Amino acid sequence: MYILGIETSCDETAAAIVEDGTRVLSSCIASAAASFAGSGGVIPEDAARAQLECILPTIQSALNQSRLTIQDLSAIAVTAGPGLLGSLLVGTCTARALAHAWQLPVIPVHHTLGHLSSTWLDSHDKLPIFPILTLSVSGGHTELWLRRSHTDQELLGTTLDDAAGEAFDKGAKLLGLGYPGGPLLARLAERNQRQPLLPLPVSRIAGSFNFSFSGLKTALLYHIREHGSEETAWLAASYQSAICTQLTRRVEDALGEHTDVREVHVVGGVSANGALRAAIDALCAARGVQCRYPMRIEYCTDNAAMIAGAAYWIPAGPEVPFVTFASGSLAEKGR
Ligand code: KG4
Ligand code: ZN
Repeated sequence: MYILGIETSCDETAAAIVEDGTRVLSSCIASAAASFAGSGGVIPEDAARAQLECILPTIQSALNQSRLTIQDLSAIAVTAGPGLLGSLLVGTCTARALAHAWQLPVIPVHHTLGHLSSTWLDSHDKLPIFPILTLSVSGGHTELWLRRSHTDQELLGTTLDDAAGEAFDKGAKLLGLGYPGGPLLARLAERNQRQPLLPLPVSRIAGSFNFSFSGLKTALLYHIREHGSEETAWLAASYQSAICTQLTRRVEDALGEHTDVREVHVVGGVSANGALRAAIDALCAARGVQCRYPMRIEYCTDNAAMIAGAAYWIPAGPEVPFVTFASGSLAEKGR
């Protein structure tokens, strides 16, 4: 089954073709991120305008690279939410128009479900095994899921304030770096020579798997106000370490409670972070649990392959409820 995926929830315009939820035949992304580097964040109106211009060429590239024809496609999957309204409209309207013209069904996909499915991409040699503990960390959300199948999952914890990626971006801004700040802060942290690191607060919310990053950001702000930001590499490494420690501890807590978990997955933009991967790798090695990240860095950040992949695992038919999540149906919210 070949599914064309379309993802336009933020500043990317992405199209991809995936076979049977795993084999990526093409994955094309046009990003407007560079044009927002000076503004410190995405300007929604500008993002949607850029997407209108590049959505059809991006879909055409995905088709060309896959060497398939329109007749080979089984469905069009599209991110239906959450995201920037104008951007989502560009993707969903394009998907509907093409589906009408090409006589294909449209599968609306919740953006988070896309990230949760990203570890299946290119994993056909060794498919993941449930139950899986998935830490989904991006600019928009920070969630810990216990997944028993593609359609049965429980939200164990979420952030009470900033998302992990947002914390990276805000910390980067305080250190005078550009946008998106996560990769820039990570690169700066690699240059740090000073030990020990600056101790920064690592939140722990008693009796829950929830996260909180706003205190950490404020602590960095106060430190910079008092001591200046001269040793930026040291500050970046300290700040990154505090984020990674909180994320890893929560996974550790959940593994302690859910001892039948077979695999730990980390997905979303922040799963590209090397320090986080090192900490999760060490934890999983100590616990004897398999850990996985998306097979390619471009499957960590927003992409359309994860949307096409997720759609394959969603039960077909309008009468079958999509995936029911603890906080409501992702599919319903997506619609
Ligand atoms: O999943 P994603 O592309 O978009 C959302 O759905 O939000 O995640 C983007 C987020 C941004 O906050 C970005 O700074 C962060 O992921 N990010 C990173 C790294 N690469 C991307 N954060 C830390 N280290 C990285 N290497
Ligand atoms: Zn995302």
